[in-house]
Amino acid sequence: MTDAELAATFLTIGEEYERFRPGFPAEIAAAVAPSRVSSALDLAAGTGKFTEQLVSRADRVIAVDPSEPMLAELRRKLPDVTALIGTAEAIPLADAGCDLVTVAQAYHWFDPEPASREIRRVLTAAGRLALIWNGPDPRCTWDSDTYLIAHPHQDDEPADADHDADALPRRDVPGFTQVDSIRLSWSERITRADYLNRWMTVSTFLAADEQQRRELVRRVEAVLDAHPDTRGRHTLHLPQVTDALIYEPTV
Ligand SMILES: C[S@@+](CC[C@H](N)C(=O)[O-])C[C@H]1O[C@@H](n2cnc3c(N)ncnc32)[C@H](O)[C@@H]1O
Repeated sequence: MTDAELAATFLTIGEEYERFRPGFPAEIAAAVAPSRVSSALDLAAGTGKFTEQLVSRADRVIAVDPSEPMLAELRRKLPDVTALIGTAEAIPLADAGCDLVTVAQAYHWFDPEPASREIRRVLTAAGRLALIWNGPDPRCTWDSDTYLIAHPHQDDEPADADHDADALPRRDVPGFTQVDSIRLSWSERITRADYLNRWMTVSTFLAADEQQRRELVRRVEAVLDAHPDTRGRHTLHLPQVTDALIYEPTV
């Protein structure tokens, strides 16, 4: 299955994504938008899990995503945000109107050259781009093992796939210079059932047929049943790492 086909799996999901996917720590939004801006675009906004953090940090917040079910959830939750169908490669906005573009959990789905050109086009001259990813804490072996079941090619994370929780993340973006990066460790409590439900919202599981999905779930359950931190537990303690990579247009 190609990346484009995997990305298209999000066209059919909204409610479950909103219910089971994690949000983002407020510290990350504070680092991405340390002072209030006039206009912020959350690109590939999905159901608005990062967009909601921008509402108190920008006079105008715009959300763009190709998935109508995702944006339906976002509109319900954030009625004051302008939500537009569109893609990173063809952003439905005028030139030079955004002080900040954020992309949470999605830059890896973009075609980098046209998307970066479009992001540059909609940014003001002093504007910034922030790429954000939640990911497994490499020190948590059971979650890292299930992550590898869902991401056998590890293409869902920033460039430094070195599994070092203390390393600062880097990723090249055409036409941009990385000026900062933040890595934050945090944790949540999640029931085993919701942990499994969360995996159902990941592209590999969405793209799988019934038999393949049963096999993926069986493998995740086998990890949970084998590890001493998860075996027989109803509630799991799940460490997370969130990366934010900040860029300015290269002059
Ligand atoms: C994993 S979800 C992330 C959603 C949201 N940003 C979040 O963090 O919860 C990936 C999102 O990227 C969107 N997407 C996929 N390909 C895209 C593209 N080429 N341009 C813009 N959005 C895209 C999907 O529709 C989906 O909503």
